[in-house]
Amino acid sequence: PGKSTAPAHCVGPDYRPIAQKPTATVSTEISYENVHILPQTPQLIALLTMIRDKATARADFVFYSNRIIRLLVEEGLNHLPVIEHTVTTPVGRSYAGVKFQGKICGVSIMRAGEAMEQGLRDCCRSVRIGKILIQRDEDTSKPKLFYDKLPEDVSDRWVLLLDPMFATGGSATMAVDVLKSRGVPEDRILFLNLIASPEGVNSFAKRFPKLRVVTAFVDQGLDEKNYIVPGLGDFGDRFYTL
Ligand code: PRP
Ligand code: URA
Repeated sequence: PGKSTAPAHCVGPDYRPIAQKPTATVSTEISYENVHILPQTPQLIALLTMIRDKATARADFVFYSNRIIRLLVEEGLNHLPVIEHTVTTPVGRSYAGVKFQGKICGVSIMRAGEAMEQGLRDCCRSVRIGKILIQRDEDTSKPKLFYDKLPEDVSDRWVLLLDPMFATGGSATMAVDVLKSRGVPEDRILFLNLIASPEGVNSFAKRFPKLRVVTAFVDQGLDEKNYIVPGLGDFGDRFYTL
């Protein structure tokens, strides 16, 4: 593993003088316009600390991951278009607001991406969800496509692509190629993930410059087995089976 490039920052509101505030490692900054990193708030850092800890038991891993997933979904939805919409309030006044315009769907990269489906459903009732089964070969880290099932009109929808771990980017690249082959324009895909590697983000930004990535954290890098470091290990195993 390489040396950390991520800065340690003071974390927390102004309840203490700066010299007495706790510090924590925050996300590596990325300069691509289409990569959006969640604000590195004390809550987010505390949630990530929980799920990165190898001593965290499965029930807590699921609970804290779900809180981060909710933040990612809410941020992802902020990137969708809205139109003006004025309503009348119960006291007879009008409020000039907005409403979402367009159709969306989720597409999860199985298995781990399925863990993000409930977070999407919690925000978008009865949302359609497609599936792409891609598995990374344990020895070569190369992705293999086994199966896909997408809404028939996927090309008319905004697609929230779901996978918690963005390591080499091989799996996500394969999934985006499937979506593009079904007519989904690159600029209508949002890839939501919990932890990304700089390698994955860089290769993706070059290959799909119009696609938006929303991530909670860009980590230091990859180890010799192409696991993200410091990372959190195998997300699918920790969420579903460990
Ligand atoms: C993990 C993860 C991503 C992929 C990331 O899945 O959920 O899909 O690896 O690695 P990459 O960016 O180098 O392609 P895995 O294939 O291990 O399957 P799982 O979802 O069943 O855990
Ligand atoms: N898949 C995971 O679950 N974790 C990693 O660090 C890399 C791929």
